[in-house]
Amino acid sequence: MAKRIIIEIPHPILKEKALPVEAVTSEIQTLLSDMLETMYASNGVGLAGNQVGVLKRVVVIDCGDENEKPDPIKMVNPEIIEHATEKICHNEGCLSIPREYADVERYEWVVVRYTDENGVERQRRATGLLAIAMQHEIDHLDGILFIDHLSPLKRKLLVKHLEKRRRKQARLAEEGEA
Ligand code: NI
Repeated sequence: MAKRIIIEIPHPILKEKALPVEAVTSEIQTLLSDMLETMYASNGVGLAGNQVGVLKRVVVIDCGDENEKPDPIKMVNPEIIEHATEKICHNEGCLSIPREYADVERYEWVVVRYTDENGVERQRRATGLLAIAMQHEIDHLDGILFIDHLSPLKRKLLVKHLEKRRRKQARLAEEGEA
């Protein structure tokens, strides 16, 4: 396994639609393992192909199980095939939009169909944080970020805040080197 670089906004690949995976090859298996390692190293709960610069429909998620033990899920070509009518609001973040958070509405539960890392087709019903993560990650594969669910004003403020913090970090790093 190897850690990969997480791509951050405003990189255009985050706005692109990822392509379906035709076969779960060893290359895809390695990609999924690398993504999981990368996600854990950044304390994230989900990561999608676009975020490591690969425009393939692959997602990894780990929201933990009911006993708070690790519950890694590797998904190829995930698709929401059923969802609740009710929505819930949750404060979301994203490894591609570091340290910025905002409330987003998502379906309360979803049923996701996907192919696992062994090429077996599976279905999983998810509620709570897992349902939110599934919707957030599948959005990534369609080039949609959580900030795209916000009003234009809220989105603009969030991005400005991130840019301001980046400039500050860059300045501090420069001063450190001087
Ligand atoms: Ni994300």
